[in-house]
Amino acid sequence: MHVKLDETRRWFEDYARGFDLSDPMLEMKYVHSHDVMRTGETLTRALGWAPAEAEVGIAACLLHDTGRFSQYRDFRTYHDGGSVDHGDRGHAVLTAEFPRDLADGEGRSAILEAVRWHNKRELPERLDERILPFCRLVRDADKLDVFRLVQRCMAEGREAELLPRHRVDAPLSPELLDEVENTGRGSYKNAHSMLDYLLIQMTWTLDLNYAPSRALLRESGILDRIRERFPPGEVRVQRLLDRLTRASA
Ligand SMILES: [Fe+2]
Repeated sequence: MHVKLDETRRWFEDYARGFDLSDPMLEMKYVHSHDVMRTGETLTRALGWAPAEAEVGIAACLLHDTGRFSQYRDFRTYHDGGSVDHGDRGHAVLTAEFPRDLADGEGRSAILEAVRWHNKRELPERLDERILPFCRLVRDADKLDVFRLVQRCMAEGREAELLPRHRVDAPLSPELLDEVENTGRGSYKNAHSMLDYLLIQMTWTLDLNYAPSRALLRESGILDRIRERFPPGEVRVQRLLDRLTRASA
């Protein structure tokens, strides 16, 4: 398994620069791609991956949101439900445009599949054993960076920009609370407020694949900061948040 990582980075640079990166919405995805790549570096090191596998994983992390650029150009939104599935779009773009000589067959399919599956609710049951670790890596690295991104936006009071479809001061939606209590997951279709979005983020603690990912999240203190946003007196909510916090231990 092999990828030419430096050339992959140059290819991504050129690809991204084909879009209007002076638009803050697109620039945000460009920065996020690099941040996820760095998280991929940290995780592959912590996991002790061999250099060749680590490079494929890091490349997949960098490329995971390739589909976002043309999604935003074509639809002016990052809402997959109202446009295209950006994991599928990324897979299609890379299939057509990522040069074949930058990876061998195994490396290329690990990258493409990790991109395709990074944003799905869950991984499909039957996924090639050799591809699975890369899918898991990208999903973890992406979630860890989205945690950071949302915190950054909230600290700067820019959450409305990041999540235009979510009302900042609205309470938790009862349907979402029920769903998360019963299934441990939350659907974006049931999320209407900032708290709803944060509750869905809290469920990601159940969905991190690797121990070093959970350790990074724990050490970041982000879960505590998210919890401060929820009303302290609501026993049912607090009990659920306790359960989700424990999942990261
Ligand atoms: Fe994504």
